[in-house]
Amino acid sequence: MQTFLVTGGIGFIGSNFILKARKENWANIINLDKLTYASNPQTLAELEDDPGYTFVRGDIAETTLVSQLLEQYQPDAVINFAAESHVDRSIISPLDFVQTNVVGTFQLLETSKSHWEKLSPPKRDRFRFLHVSTDEVYGSLSPSDSAFREDTPYAPNSPYAASKAGSDHLVRAYYHTYGFPVLTTNCSNNYGPRQFPEKLIPLMILNALNGKPLPIYGDGQNVRDWLYVEDHCDAIYLVLQQSQLGETYNIGGNNEQNNLTVVGKICEILDQLAPQAGLSRSSLLTFVKDRPGHDRRYAIDCSKIKRDLGWEPKENFESGLLKTIQWYLDNPVWVEQVLSGSYRQWIEKNYSDREIVRG
Ligand code: NAD
Ligand code: DAU
Repeated sequence: MQTFLVTGGIGFIGSNFILKARKENWANIINLDKLTYASNPQTLAELEDDPGYTFVRGDIAETTLVSQLLEQYQPDAVINFAAESHVDRSIISPLDFVQTNVVGTFQLLETSKSHWEKLSPPKRDRFRFLHVSTDEVYGSLSPSDSAFREDTPYAPNSPYAASKAGSDHLVRAYYHTYGFPVLTTNCSNNYGPRQFPEKLIPLMILNALNGKPLPIYGDGQNVRDWLYVEDHCDAIYLVLQQSQLGETYNIGGNNEQNNLTVVGKICEILDQLAPQAGLSRSSLLTFVKDRPGHDRRYAIDCSKIKRDLGWEPKENFESGLLKTIQWYLDNPVWVEQVLSGSYRQWIEKNYSDREIVRG
């Protein structure tokens, strides 16, 4: 059995990855997470008694802690999910993004490289550092542009995207300069269980359930390529097991949807699964002031990972969205835990001065 040091594993994608890794016996897991506002410590409560799972609270930038963990657990791979991940927050507080996504990733790389240099040859050959990144580093597409490929030039537009681009460049440089065994994945928008409700899909599910306005930025025609989170986790595992060193892979759902369509589908499903007398959820749609620098369209060309590694997404958007909404309906305690005071403060900060453009 392999061992992975996973960072940011209490967050949305990391927690789904860890659950799958344990269920499918991919590896034993050491989970290093700072427990920022975006994480609910109860997310992985079901692994409390699992001897193959260890949780450590800490920051990826804490070099002494990270080198102790590497020394003690001798992982076969470091998988870096840890990040500040919300674009709107990066517009209001960009420094946190530079600190974790750029400086934090740098410190994690540096500490991991020092550890790797001291390993015996067989362990050195096996060791991998997989960096989980985003399609936002490529910037924005017009409706007629072809989808992002691995060789599309970087053109990040938000402080979040710029900080992720910075981290990707550092990861790349550690391969080219030091031969450090890195892999990078650039994925499109994920959706699924356990996503913090500041992001479009869970925010809309919870607002719609509670009869609150559904705030659509701008004209609602921005397009994202939605991928079910477990398909992303499978792709990461496959890249880790089979990819050549230094490679980058784009991962996407072949599923471009504009925001109005996505929110319309959520309303329809909720009207069926949790009807409220006299309420059609789509009446809650509210057009509000746009996100500054809002990227118009993302789309991923994932032919490379299909060709090289045989990966394909398994879930379709209809079944994935249904599963996701059902998860939020079935987990009211988890929802209650994340809707804390700090969440309410964020909602107030982000939405109170977005005047209503069209209700
Ligand atoms: P998330 O915000 O849900 O979770 C991030 C986790 O990282 C949290 O548990 C947080 O406590 C932890 N963390 C933050 N700073 C840390 C630090 N300095 N040290 C240790 N832990 C820290 O994010 P997510 O949506 O799960 O995204 C995970 C990764 O995937 C990120 O790198 C993100 O850029 C990337 N990504 C996300 C998406 C998406 O649609 N959510 C798509 C493509 C790529
Ligand atoms: O593309 C991958 C990226 O997807 C990840 O790297 C990011 O971590 C992740 O947050 C996500 O970024 P987006 O900005 O695309 O996701 P978000 O859920 O914030 O917004 C999705 C779309 O919905 C976007 O066009 C903005 C719009 N939106 C969002 C919110 C929160 C609204 O119209 N209203 C809202 O209230």
